[in-house]
Amino acid sequence: MKEIEIIKPDDWHVHFRDDDILKAVIPETTRHFARSIVMPNLTPPILNGKQAIKYKERIKNAIPKAHNFEPLMTIYLTENTDKFELCKSYQEELVFAAKLYPAGATTNSDSGVKDIKKIMPVLETMSEVGMPLLIHGEVTHKEVDIFDREKVFIDQNLDFICKELPELKITLEHITTKEATEYVYEGNENLVASITPHHLALNRNSIFVGGIKPHNYCLPILKREKHRKALIKVATNGSKKFFLGTDTAPHFASDKENCCGCAGIFNASYCISILTQIFEDAKSLKNLESFISINGASHYQLPSNSTKIKIIKKDYPIKFKKFILVGSEKIMIFNPGFKTFWEVKN
Ligand code: DOR
Ligand code: ZN
Repeated sequence: MKEIEIIKPDDWHVHFRDDDILKAVIPETTRHFARSIVMPNLTPPILNGKQAIKYKERIKNAIPKAHNFEPLMTIYLTENTDKFELCKSYQEELVFAAKLYPAGATTNSDSGVKDIKKIMPVLETMSEVGMPLLIHGEVTHKEVDIFDREKVFIDQNLDFICKELPELKITLEHITTKEATEYVYEGNENLVASITPHHLALNRNSIFVGGIKPHNYCLPILKREKHRKALIKVATNGSKKFFLGTDTAPHFASDKENCCGCAGIFNASYCISILTQIFEDAKSLKNLESFISINGASHYQLPSNSTKIKIIKKDYPIKFKKFILVGSEKIMIFNPGFKTFWEVKN
């Protein structure tokens, strides 16, 4: 049996939802992680500091007593976001960051931004006060192929924002392409990227081969194997610019196994086991701690966590639970389909 000990990880991108779903999913994250950046794409979205604080209270009330966990709140940017109010909420520490969803890019993004130029004054103020910008980096024009949406966003929007505002702290979230790894790698030190476990584990065949697999459908959509390999490379090579954001995104199974299925993969339950396996297979276990526990905190200018976790290698593959229940509805738990021998010690 092999055991590794690392600084307790943080998850820099989660969807907790609200009400009964929030209560059901939250322990799956708070069991292993110390902090998370919480996405604001509720219905209706979190648009200001007051709403963020109320949501934070609901989250805190749902955290199991035994878990020590801090939610970091975000505001959903629209073309009507008031830059003074946004920065006040940041400076008063009601919120931690702002999220840019291009309108229509993903779940509950209809109130997002259609024209980036309209929010440039807001981004400029964020840059002045040091407020981080989190980006869902996909264009939504219907003439752009869904597999090219991230690359086109980088060319048409991200490059413009980075050149106009080089001091703005930007996280290009849940990157999926070789082009994104290269753009971020070569960009200045304020530009970083998060990567999900599912984009490290799977390529697009996992959605389509042998029948359609709605539980592997997420946005940005899984890409070709060459892109997955590029993600593995930057996640595991110790670069400080890449870190974990799981994008764990619960939906009821009935909403995914549907003629118009929702995008999102609920991966919180076993993501550390899966990532440890991926890093071991890439012969890079020594860089696991940077990716899941250090690089994100350092980008966000937070201290690393003071506690540690142990991850143990079993002689047999660990058995995944298949789902969690919310009333009579199931939320399916992500299973990458390969054997995973690592387990977080309680
Ligand atoms: O697959 C996704 N699901 N991608 C996102 O960007 C949003 C998320 C959700 O909220 O379900
Ligand atoms: Zn997300």
